[in-house]
Amino acid sequence: MKIANSLFSVFACVAIFGASTAFAVEEQAAAPMHHHEMPIEDNRISLGISPQMKLHQLASMREHLEAVQAIVGLILENKFDEASKIAHQKLGLTPEKKAMCMAMHNQKFTELGFAFHESGDKLGEVLQTGDAGESFKALHKTMQFCVQCHATYRQ
Ligand code: HEC
Repeated sequence: MKIANSLFSVFACVAIFGASTAFAVEEQAAAPMHHHEMPIEDNRISLGISPQMKLHQLASMREHLEAVQAIVGLILENKFDEASKIAHQKLGLTPEKKAMCMAMHNQKFTELGFAFHESGDKLGEVLQTGDAGESFKALHKTMQFCVQCHATYRQ
């Protein structure tokens, strides 16, 4: 009897889950583009770069994200020197980053990229002080450039 009961609950759950999934699919079909008010068109400025450059850029971007995660973790562990090194190396305006920003052949993009990387170096300096609050403030500023650029440009 007990087994029959629990079997029944399993079937009931499957049925409810199935019904809600079907409903979700139907809802999506009825309004394909309006999910969460996402814009239908991508009106951001295209950089128009080569497929090879695209891959290079995305790899570099994933490194930025990794750097941010590492820095947050290191602040929480009080490892400010290590965090500072990562900020300078991965987010700072190194000769490599400079060249890459310039290779996009879009002056406004390059300027924004430089401002972003300069804020990365500034973050590296603030991290040297060992002040977590100030460090998060500086990181917040740096991340505003991530948000601003992504809202403006696409590949
Ligand atoms: C000056 C411009 C600019 C800045 C600043 C910038 N990005 Fe990007 N990022 C881009 C562009 C352009 C793309 C490609 C977006 C597209 O085509 O939709 C991109 C894509 C990405 C992607 C997607 C990678 C993939 O493999 O799909 C990640 C993750 C990312 N950026 C993280 C970051 C983070 C984190 C920061 C800040 C710490 C940052 N970016 C700052 C321009 C920028």
